[in-house]
Amino acid sequence: MTDAERIAQLRRLIREHEDRYYVLAAPAITDAEFDRLMADLRDLETRHPELVTADSPTQRVGGRPAEGFAAVEHLVPMLSLDNAYSDEDLRAFHDRVLRVLSAGGAPPPEVAYVAELKIDGLSIALTYENGRLVRGVTRGDGVRGEDVTGNVRTIRAIPLRLKEDVPGRLEVRGEVYLPRASFDRVNREREDAEEPAFANPRNAAAGTMRSLDPAVVARRGLSAFVYQVVSDGEERGEHAAAMQRMRDLGLPVEPHWRRCAGIEAVVEYCREWGDRRHTMGFDTDGVVIKVDNLALRVQLGATNKFPRWAAAYKFPAARATTRLKQIAVNVGRTGAVTPYAVLDPVFLSGSTIQMATLHNEQEIARRDIRPGDLVTIEKGGDVIPKVVGPVLDGRPADARPWEMPRECPACGSTLVRPDDEVVWRCLNASCPARLRRSLLHFASRRALNIEGLGEALVDQLVERGLVADVADLYALQEDRVAALERMGQKSARKLLDQIQRSRAAEFWRVLFGLGIRHVGERVAQSLAAGFGSMDALAAAPAETMQAVRDIGPVAAASVREYFDEPHNLALVGRLRSAGLQLESSAPGAAAEQSLAGATFVLTGTLAAMTRDQAAAAIAARGGRVSASVSKKTTYVVAGAEAGSKLAKARDLGVTVIDEEAFSRLIMDR
Ligand code: IVH
Repeated sequence: MTDAERIAQLRRLIREHEDRYYVLAAPAITDAEFDRLMADLRDLETRHPELVTADSPTQRVGGRPAEGFAAVEHLVPMLSLDNAYSDEDLRAFHDRVLRVLSAGGAPPPEVAYVAELKIDGLSIALTYENGRLVRGVTRGDGVRGEDVTGNVRTIRAIPLRLKEDVPGRLEVRGEVYLPRASFDRVNREREDAEEPAFANPRNAAAGTMRSLDPAVVARRGLSAFVYQVVSDGEERGEHAAAMQRMRDLGLPVEPHWRRCAGIEAVVEYCREWGDRRHTMGFDTDGVVIKVDNLALRVQLGATNKFPRWAAAYKFPAARATTRLKQIAVNVGRTGAVTPYAVLDPVFLSGSTIQMATLHNEQEIARRDIRPGDLVTIEKGGDVIPKVVGPVLDGRPADARPWEMPRECPACGSTLVRPDDEVVWRCLNASCPARLRRSLLHFASRRALNIEGLGEALVDQLVERGLVADVADLYALQEDRVAALERMGQKSARKLLDQIQRSRAAEFWRVLFGLGIRHVGERVAQSLAAGFGSMDALAAAPAETMQAVRDIGPVAAASVREYFDEPHNLALVGRLRSAGLQLESSAPGAAAEQSLAGATFVLTGTLAAMTRDQAAAAIAARGGRVSASVSKKTTYVVAGAEAGSKLAKARDLGVTVIDEEAFSRLIMDR
């Protein structure tokens, strides 16, 4: 097989496995095996740059962040759908269809439908030319959308090249969405960075598509399904056949669609999926029903807003009524004080609910929600159930409007709300509620990883005045800890061992553990790699920080603000005295660039760190990480299940080191 043939074969294989993984959720090979195929392709393409094409799976994330999105007019407007909320609504829709089709006295035909899951994301129009993806455009106002091709290309469910090089132009439409698993991960990362979590996957998907940097989009893990072939000419055949055709071309089609011979079969489909939808890895908020016969669709036409041949059946949101016992407020790590509802426990679609969001002070007033009210709560697509509003019949005579406390419930200091914001804040840096959250974050697994320092213990440490900030953890005495409830000598010793161990944690973990707003795990890693030490970072102007990969203006400003505050600098000083690592293990200073000039290739899985962490450690010491092995490679670091790169290194006589040797290289200096 020639290299060109092997490249073509690898691209086909990779597409097949992407499809299995991202569309069918049924992977046939391990991630490591998949990575190996990609690595092999990259290697070959490095050797044959002339064979690299835009539709190669290695080219999904290309180029630099965009300046903005260009407006593009849709060839055929993107309409939305009229809604149906009940079986009666569905039958009424069917009657309308029959009425239009039998106008003029024709006997009504048999009308078959296709029922599909309604994917809760944002609509997208994809254009292929001669089988190559050339454009992705958002719906926009239906007439004009935004050209988001660079972002769409990163979505691995969407083929860059169809299985057939269909001549000319082919436009398909579908929905971009964020799978539940990606959504949960993204929100965890945002919470770590004290950034507002996305309320639901749809908001997260829409927010992500608005990003100007395709690399950011690629990391979020969006996916997509298509559900329509756009034609501007003669309509022939059936929608069901078009769905099959899209699938045959390698496009992602949600596989649970069903052809229904009549409206009763549609009603049955909607009923079935009302429960079953919760078993899917993505959010679906209803069922879309479409007339199957395309010629009938032309006859039915459209109003200026909706096609007459389709409708969106919306699943009822799960609702319940319960007593609002109290409106309490929660104080976050950064001092944001937010109200929430404390409810009489009520069981609602699979779980018992005792708390719900109330958003903010204004919302509570707008909906006139009062403590003691009987309230309706709803569990829609959002993570946290919400209070819809009061049931006025159930309002106790003495219910009074709620007032936002003017003082922090934890420390009593006066709350502050800037004129242009809705969020009240406690500005006291040593507020016990903030302190409690800070300690839990500092000790969390991905920060300093102090096992055993959970909520109950943190509460006691704060209440007894044993710790007033995170640095105090390092001055804890065993007998005082042992005297706390449910502790004892043995548990106290274990905790102090854990705290002792955390002194050796990498610098980026300490930086992350400080809980600076907008500094999540990844930002902390980038800053640590870029600056090499807390001192260098603390001295840097915000503009310099922005020069580091992944650091935007918001994070940079927040870090600058943090170090401009003398109390924070003092805290960092005490962490230094306590022996924490405030430098990347090899200091960033030029003289200490122990790996300068060395090129590394990482392959396989490392046990103690992720690839990103390994790469950051190399970069901080002046080394370079490359994707493919060549004669110029200094070291190949081989983790578990190392693949073709390892074989290649041996071929070329490049030094191969294992994880242990690698740790020595990046540590003992
Ligand atoms: S067909 C002429 N099929 O729902 C309109 N839409 O409320 C053709 N959607 O804007 C749309 N899943 O973004 C269709 N299987 C599906 C869908 C779907 C989600 C979205 C789409 C549309 C909105 C209509």
